[in-house]
Amino acid sequence: MRVSLLVPAAGRGERLGAGRPKALVPVRGRTLLEWALSRFPPVDEVLVALPPGAEPPPGLEARYLEGGATRQESVYRLLKEASGELVLVHDAARAFVVAEVVHRVLEATRTTGAAAPAIPVPDTLVEGATTYGRALDRERLRLVQTPQGFARSLLRKAHEAALREGRTATDDAQLVRALGHPVKFVPGDRRMFKVTYPEDLELLSALLQAEADELA
Ligand code: CTP
Ligand code: MG
Repeated sequence: MRVSLLVPAAGRGERLGAGRPKALVPVRGRTLLEWALSRFPPVDEVLVALPPGAEPPPGLEARYLEGGATRQESVYRLLKEASGELVLVHDAARAFVVAEVVHRVLEATRTTGAAAPAIPVPDTLVEGATTYGRALDRERLRLVQTPQGFARSLLRKAHEAALREGRTATDDAQLVRALGHPVKFVPGDRRMFKVTYPEDLELLSALLQAEADELA
């Protein structure tokens, strides 16, 4: 089955506050988008959603589209152009791609039609943003990462149902689940965190450096 990689990279990166779109922020000489794509195992087709007016980085084998106002809209634009029977949706902001995770997701997608990487929650979790509210049972909770894999026709159905019903979601698995289709979890990896805040750039840089040292 042919696999299309869809990369939403059209966000503004407001929480990072780097003065440019997050996917185009450089760390150790390459942008987050370049790291994410160059570390990704080979697929049949790569489609990337960029912010309006952004210059695609040179030298990457990818097709570029203009993203939308939300992540969901950006993914839908990519999805409409994809040709693979399977699609992997991966945030450019998860620049430290771990190949084993991608393989696990792809394997589970081939057998179930919908899969996502997830990891346990290490911290105590509570409701409430300013005062300590009810604690949630973290054993029952997971942090959900990308890449998420789907049969293309299933994800398309999920996005179109969401559009019709005016539902929004921060990832694609939510939209598929809303159709009543289960999404299989496979183990994710903490190194595949989403670069979100300024100090995350230091973490990414350190991971890349540690890996380079190991290979040296
Ligand atoms: N994204 C996108 N189109 C949008 C918004 C987000 O393609 N309109 C992408 C981002 O580029 C990122 C991924 O979706 O790779 C996850 O989004 P997030 O981490 O929220 O990135 P930003 O929206 O850029 O960051 P912020 O919310 O801090 O502005
Ligand atoms: Mg965002």
